[in-house]
Amino acid sequence: MGNKMMMKSQAEFEQDYQRKQEQKPSVLALNLLIKKKGRVSTEYQFLTPPIGKGQYSEIRKVINKKTGIMRAVKIVQKNATEKEEERVLSEVNNLEKLDHPNILKINEYYSDDRFHYIITDFYSGGELFSKIQERRIFSETYAARIIRQLLYAVNYCHLHGIAHREIRPENIMLERCSEFASAILIDFGLCSKISHKMHSSVNHPYYQAPEIQQKKYNESIDIWAIGVITYILLCGYPPFGGDTNRKIIDNVLKKPLIFDEQDWSKNSNESKEFVRKILLKDPSQRITIEQALNDPWIAKNYELQVTDSQLKRVLTNLVNYNCQSKLQEATLKLIVLYLASREELSELREVFTCIDTKNDGYIDVEELQAAMLKIFDSETAERQSNKICAEDETLSYSQFLAQAIDKQAILQKSKIETAFKLIDRNASGNINVEELSEAFKCNLTGNEYWIEIMNELCHQQNLQI
Ligand SMILES: Nc1ncnc2c1ncn2[C@@H]1O[C@H](COP(=O)(O)OP(=O)(O)OP(=O)(O)O)[C@@H](O)[C@H]1O
Ligand SMILES: [Mg+2]
Repeated sequence: MGNKMMMKSQAEFEQDYQRKQEQKPSVLALNLLIKKKGRVSTEYQFLTPPIGKGQYSEIRKVINKKTGIMRAVKIVQKNATEKEEERVLSEVNNLEKLDHPNILKINEYYSDDRFHYIITDFYSGGELFSKIQERRIFSETYAARIIRQLLYAVNYCHLHGIAHREIRPENIMLERCSEFASAILIDFGLCSKISHKMHSSVNHPYYQAPEIQQKKYNESIDIWAIGVITYILLCGYPPFGGDTNRKIIDNVLKKPLIFDEQDWSKNSNESKEFVRKILLKDPSQRITIEQALNDPWIAKNYELQVTDSQLKRVLTNLVNYNCQSKLQEATLKLIVLYLASREELSELREVFTCIDTKNDGYIDVEELQAAMLKIFDSETAERQSNKICAEDETLSYSQFLAQAIDKQAILQKSKIETAFKLIDRNASGNINVEELSEAFKCNLTGNEYWIEIMNELCHQQNLQI
């Protein structure tokens, strides 16, 4: 495990990340996204009743009128309080940066005089919270899979300098209604830039790490919360309970961690050890996320469902990915990001996680080569991985999706037409340069990528389906 996990330090990671952001417009620059002009009701049909409620917010299902795709929208009152306003904008900004298989995906953000509207993917499997209420206890295999996905998501957040701070089963969605559904971390409203100044009281007392009471803590409060969730999944109740919030907090601070013999009789020693290593009251003694991801309990109970033939199919797509023009490439990304269904992407998600052995949410040349060695001869594996990750580049999740998807299957006429409609905002049947730059949210000055697209278009005048 040691040599496989040559993780970059957070500082190195941030430097690298910054450099990449400056170097090239990532797939996320292709944002049909964020901060849209226009009225949300022109684009979306709102469904009733609401599916969730916060103090100043309401979550509704919506249907995109052009694509027919169902999304969720978080509607937040404007000027509720100044703090709330800040919270919404920080949520949008942070979600915009995060591109990970187990993290809420933001699609668009609108605002009018009275409300903010954050449009995201809709997850039909419900909250992990409801699942716990319904079933109470889970098998170790189920628990380890969900916990592994959470650790993977939170590791990515921390590497990006973000602490979530409200990890609890109400903020974990199941992607769809299935025993094998992925866990998705949502609600980034209270997330914070990691700093030594973090002090505010966050999360429900059941999930609050003891050091939160000292009003000085670091990102390891997130791993504590994951430890509490593991405990709940395996025995059906939280490790530190109480009738009132005060009592719960007292127990978190003072009560020793115990595993009731009867309630834990069916669970392995490794599972108890895993929980014990996380629920250490002294944060400096607590295991890190990286260690948790490589813990024997996770390793024993978690196996990715990727067969050699799936790996081969996906890696072959990646090798053959060859877009003839920048516009074609951008359109393909748009289709993958906005029009592909979650089912169409589910295999790719598993393969991405399987290749990303360093668990940082990116695929680098070493990881790609190791995966390719399972399928191709060593010369091909080396050449192809170097070509795909040229100049020490890494593949982000969305980049991987766009490049590894089966182009034949995804480029159905209906999707291309819908992509066209999404860009052609005034529904004229033509796409003009303004619409294109609005759609891809590009800043033309100093951006080689978009200049190339525009150059290509100068030769094509009118784009029409
Ligand atoms: N993308 C989504 N798909 C399906 N359901 C969702 C989605 N986003 C939110 N919900 C539902 O709405 C609830 C509230 O969402 P969220 O936690 O983001 O809102 P909030 O205003 O921060 O609420 P609170 O402050 O009470 O946590 C979630 O617990 C979940 O049940
Ligand atoms: Mg919430």
